[in-house]
Amino acid sequence: MDGHRTVAAAASGARRVACVTGATGFIGSWLIRSLLRRGYHVNATIRDAGKASWLLSALRGGSRLKIFEADLNEEGSYDEALKNCQFVFHVAACMEFNTTAKENIGKLFPSRRTNMNSIVIVENHVRTKILEPAVRGVINVLQACAKSGSVRKVVFTSSISTITAKDDEGELRSMVDESSIIPINQVWKTKPKGWVYVLSKLLTEEKAFQFAKEKGIDLVSIIPPTVAGPFLTPSVPASVQVLLSPITGDPELYPILASVHSRLGSIPLAHVEDICNAQIFLMEQPMTEGRYICSAGSCSLPELTDLLSKNYPAFSSKRFHENSCISIHPVISSKHLTDLGFAFTYSVRDIIQQSVTCCVEGGFLRLHENEDDMVP
Ligand SMILES: NC(=O)c1ccc[n+]([C@@H]2O[C@H](COP(=O)([O-])OP(=O)(O)OC[C@H]3O[C@@H](n4cnc5c(N)ncnc54)[C@H](OP(=O)(O)O)[C@@H]3O)[C@@H](O)[C@H]2O)c1
Repeated sequence: MDGHRTVAAAASGARRVACVTGATGFIGSWLIRSLLRRGYHVNATIRDAGKASWLLSALRGGSRLKIFEADLNEEGSYDEALKNCQFVFHVAACMEFNTTAKENIGKLFPSRRTNMNSIVIVENHVRTKILEPAVRGVINVLQACAKSGSVRKVVFTSSISTITAKDDEGELRSMVDESSIIPINQVWKTKPKGWVYVLSKLLTEEKAFQFAKEKGIDLVSIIPPTVAGPFLTPSVPASVQVLLSPITGDPELYPILASVHSRLGSIPLAHVEDICNAQIFLMEQPMTEGRYICSAGSCSLPELTDLLSKNYPAFSSKRFHENSCISIHPVISSKHLTDLGFAFTYSVRDIIQQSVTCCVEGGFLRLHENEDDMVP
């Protein structure tokens, strides 16, 4: 793999074919749109052919967009989609936020009480039924890259859930970068909100780098924070629902936001368009290596609630009002990315305002207080 050849191919006007996994998702669908607008040919993978019609009409890619059926859980299912591709954006992932150990136990064994034995059973379930398949899924995609003989570079989509601002003593650091990785053992031990998702992102990314190194694949990883803004999907993306939870009052989603705030000391955000631009930027840059945080800025929970209320006055008087006792708001640094020359287009205010507007215009957020809040 040679990053210089990637740029050379682009410069010479050669046909550029990129594969996007997770095409039906929030980021995947927006990324395809961004790639098509830049003149790329896109092989988009979806796991359910029934979802192709909304995607095709939302993206209008004509002959430059091809849809392939592929599932992370099916070995070899990405081989066809990756044939003749030079670039791969691996975006697909199981988005099971699966909350606390207690809730997992409740789901698996409704009549059982939490004890050591049931925790071991839950851990085994998570390991064998969620984490091992997730790791096999990423290897499945990378095997297809290796087999293709054409793939030059892969951008893996990681997550800010792999990052913590807390040091060994549990105190918040003033600055957080790509090396501030949350220790896997700590996640197994403490099982914070969303622990299964955190483990899945940590393990799949680690395995992706390891496998890529073994096979000589040029792989970089982007680390998005909470991504929001407008969306092409027919329903409200999970991350937009999480962001808007202070005004919708969703009791399942708000704790996810609160947990991010507690781990990072603020809520880092990025606009979906900036995330997709950064993914393409990293793909096109010749000299990239490792992980790249892509956060436009952060706000505290009270600031977020305030901004949401300003953009959505109908609900300003209710829902969650968080009094943050966090005095340090660590800087979540995107310096690794911006030092390469990447510039963000959208601010935290833009992200919040556009998320609310898109939900209201799509009929997902009700304008009147006596109606149900959010239609997913
Ligand atoms: N949105 C955020 O705030 C955020 C933040 C950090 C990182 N990320 C990462 O960004 C990526 C995309 O997130 P998103 O917000 O776009 O999520 P999303 O809207 O839920 O999209 C997830 C995509 O993955 C696909 N997928 C799930 N399981 C699959 C499987 N077994 N085989 C093949 N495809 C599968 C889904 O397909 P179906 O439509 O068939 O379910 C969907 O297309 C994920 O890797 C996520 O971890 C997102």
